[in-house]
Amino acid sequence: MARQNAVITGWGFYAPAKVMRNSDFEKLVDTNDQWIFERTGIRERRFAGPGESTSTMATSAARSALAKAKLKAADLDLIIVGTCSPDYLFPATACLVQSAIGADRSGAFDIEAACTSFVSALSVANAMIVAGTVRNALVIGAETLSRFLDMTDRSTCILFGDGAGAVVLEGSNASVGIESAVLRSDGSKGELLYVPAGGTMHPADQSTVDARQHFIKMAGNEVFRLAVKSMVDAAEEALSLANVALGDIALLIPHQANVRIMDAVAKRLHFPIEKVFVNVQRYGNTSAASIPIALCEAVEQGRLKRGDKVLLVAFGGGFTWGASVLEWYGEHDWDRATLSPLDIAARKLGDLVDRVRPL
Ligand code: COA
Repeated sequence: MARQNAVITGWGFYAPAKVMRNSDFEKLVDTNDQWIFERTGIRERRFAGPGESTSTMATSAARSALAKAKLKAADLDLIIVGTCSPDYLFPATACLVQSAIGADRSGAFDIEAACTSFVSALSVANAMIVAGTVRNALVIGAETLSRFLDMTDRSTCILFGDGAGAVVLEGSNASVGIESAVLRSDGSKGELLYVPAGGTMHPADQSTVDARQHFIKMAGNEVFRLAVKSMVDAAEEALSLANVALGDIALLIPHQANVRIMDAVAKRLHFPIEKVFVNVQRYGNTSAASIPIALCEAVEQGRLKRGDKVLLVAFGGGFTWGASVLEWYGEHDWDRATLSPLDIAARKLGDLVDRVRPL
């Protein structure tokens, strides 16, 4: 198989219907809308309803992304779900999605790098496409963190939300694609943001439940400080690897954890805040889902056109962080099911124009 670039040809997201406003938390803990909004930028977030889970939301996002890409599930080679809130310890959430959408010849596995999971999954899928191992991949970020929130801990319960975002990544002869991917980690800081029990170190028993050890624990201040520094470092490295100047970036899509983190990252990079996509006010921190949901909304709002350079940057538990520069491809205007020789010729011509464009 000839070496190809990986381009995003489909995208979609799902946000559960149940809206949790800041005022809803005033009834649960000692907090208020003003404190939450001023310290985080969050006004509301979505919580999964009964019967909804990471796999059901991922499946909805996946269906939208496949429809946009005009790709049949049966033609998928690979499904990767980035999540730290899977339906089960195993099977992988990606396998549940594979079955739900009927991707009968697809491989499927999960990637867990907390809020960096989507950027990590995208990097792996890109590498597999470029290497010729697969032709295409469905890359999903999906989380149901509401099920791991301690509703008596005001410093964490107000931050997180549920949702899923998905993209279809395909091999293409186009010159655009994913131009760089940087992944970093520091496991020595794991306990600054984690769920202590339920794994093999502290299996679930009555004492772990009584001690509320199955909920997210976080040292917010330290996470904040390291998030800003790490996201700036990763962004600069991804730009340098891609040989792209910051001034050429049309849109920065950071992980949506806290508006103050995003502001600080933009300020340290000397990047205009108008070119930073922010939707944390409506979804809170949806962890692995935040970047793909933001990407979908950016496209919906007409903020990306073919050839635009996009910088994705994430930070999360682990600690993990990473960044990726990509050139937006977007919607293609051909229908695979009825691809005629003329259509194929037109596609080839489009790809050729793309290839000679930078010369
Ligand atoms: N409502 C009201 N008061 C709250 C509160 C809430 N929801 N949560 C915490 N407080 C209180 C604290 O108890 C503390 O009170 P004290 O001074 O009486 O002890 C005070 O507000 C200040 O707490 P502090 O933790 O210093 O606030 P902060 O400005 O650092 O904001 C976070 C806290 C969690 C919003 C902030 O640290 C943060 O966003 N960190 C990063 C979190 C994150 O993004 N994690 C995921 C990364 S992927």
